[in-house]
Amino acid sequence: MLSVAVSLDGYIDDTIPERLYLSNESDFDGVDQLRAESDAILIGAETVRRDDPRLWLRSQERRDARVAAGKPANLLKVTVTRTGNLSPDARMFHHHVEAGRPIVYTTVDGAESIGDTLDSVADVVAIADLDFWGTLLEDLGRRGIEQLIVEGGTHIHTAFLEAGLADELRYAIAPLLIGQIDAPRFVNPGAFPGGSRRRLELVDCTPLDDVVVLRYRPKRTSTTPSGQ
Ligand SMILES: NC(=O)c1ccc[n+]([C@@H]2O[C@H](COP(=O)([O-])OP(=O)(O)OC[C@H]3O[C@@H](n4cnc5c(N)ncnc54)[C@H](OP(=O)(O)O)[C@@H]3O)[C@@H](O)[C@H]2O)c1
Repeated sequence: MLSVAVSLDGYIDDTIPERLYLSNESDFDGVDQLRAESDAILIGAETVRRDDPRLWLRSQERRDARVAAGKPANLLKVTVTRTGNLSPDARMFHHHVEAGRPIVYTTVDGAESIGDTLDSVADVVAIADLDFWGTLLEDLGRRGIEQLIVEGGTHIHTAFLEAGLADELRYAIAPLLIGQIDAPRFVNPGAFPGGSRRRLELVDCTPLDDVVVLRYRPKRTSTTPSGQ
């Protein structure tokens, strides 16, 4: 499940160093519910470095419900890096790690750069570059992860959509116009399955105050209108 909040002009952040929150409270709550239904959460290393999120379940009620169902209160946290440039002080390694040590997937070279710097906070797993994402998902599957929520940023969403690995896309449109050419967009240009003419299947459209949440199934195709 990919989840993203996007401005009206297609950006997912601005260029100001302070973190930008595109969502509103109702949308954060919707994402919290999705997280509660998932087993693990993945973000890219650049989002870790820029936003330093905790990746936790904000609702005590949802954490309690998970525990009552025999699950850890919070999700397993996962990130990916090629360079290995991750601080052991990142908040995702320390806050709400009830599901076990966070996992850092990296390349063989990345694992070499990381060395033992993350030993006290995370499990580092090296993957050969070939079919990086498929191997990552298989490894998570072996660890009992059935539902993974992927929360960006640009490179990560692009990679999952290019590889055709997303079952669902939750796309929250926020009422902002960023207007900065260097700000990150939802995805980079990429070779998406089916190319530029393929339509995704819309499965839901819900207004949440001033945000609209669209849910698409990227793996299914809708009929292309024949036009004039
Ligand atoms: N609005 C939203 O919903 C939302 C959500 C999340 C993030 N964001 C924003 O997105 C921006 C960051 O996006 P981004 O595209 O710059 O970064 P990103 O997608 O968060 O992370 C990209 C990083 O992931 C690692 N990576 C990518 N492909 C890899 C591969 N095949 N193997 C191993 N590692 C790989 C690399 O890390 P290394 O550089 O360490 O090698 C790469 O630099 C931030 O501004 C953040 O605020 C917005």
